Amino acid sequence: MKNIVVLVSGGGTNLQALIDAQKRGAIPNGRITCVISSNPNAYALKRAKENGIGTRVIVPKDFPSEEVYTRVLLESLFQEYADLIVLAGFMKILDASIIRAYHNQIINVHPSLIPAFCGVGYYGLRVHEAALERGVRYTGATVHFVNEIADDGPIILQKPVAVQSGDTPEILQKRVMEEAEWKILPEAVCLYCDDRLEVKDKTVYIR
Ligand code: GAR
Repeated sequence: MKNIVVLVSGGGTNLQALIDAQKRGAIPNGRITCVISSNPNAYALKRAKENGIGTRVIVPKDFPSEEVYTRVLLESLFQEYADLIVLAGFMKILDASIIRAYHNQIINVHPSLIPAFCGVGYYGLRVHEAALERGVRYTGATVHFVNEIADDGPIILQKPVAVQSGDTPEILQKRVMEEAEWKILPEAVCLYCDDRLEVKDKTVYIR
C-alpha cells in the first residue's frame, strides 16, 4: 500500500476527486495519508479534515528563506513516509532538491494539453485565458511526472476537451475539470500505485 501525500493551495476539487476515487475503491493500492497546503485558508484543508485525512499547513512566506521552507517541506514528506506526492492545484514550484529526492514520484495535474499553454506563469485561470485568446478548438488536461523544468516532465495521461462558443475562462476551466482533470488524475494515481508506470527518457509506458 503506497502512502499518497497531496499538496494543495486552493479549492481542492482535484483532491476531492482523489478522495472520492479512494472511497469507491478505485485506488486499491494507495491511500491518501496527508494533505499539505501552502495556504492556511485553502478550502482543500476542509475537504481533508471532513474525510479524516491528516493536514499540515506550510506557508512559504512564514520562513526566512526559500531554503528553510524547502527543508521543512522535505522533512514533512519524510515524516509522512510519502511514496507518491500529488500536486493538485499546488501553486508553488518545488525546489530541485525535492524533485531529486522523489525522482519520478511526484505527479502534477495541469489544465491544458502540454506542451500548449504551460510552463512558468501558466496556472489556474490564466491557462484557460491563454487558450481562449489563441482560439484553439480543443484544450484539455495533462497528468505528468514532475522534473526540474515547469510542466516538462514525462506525460502519464492526457484528455482533450472541446472549446465551445461563448466560453469564458471560468466556464472552460469548469468543463476541463469535470471532463478531464477529475478523471485522469485518479486514474494516473491508481496506475502509479499499481506499479504500472515505467519511465524511459521522456516517455511513460503503461504496463
Ligand atoms: C486545477 O485546474 C489545476 O489543474 C490547476 O489549478 C486548479 C486547481 O483546482 N493547476 C495548475 O494550473 C498548475 N499549473 P483545485 O484546487 O480545485 O484542484
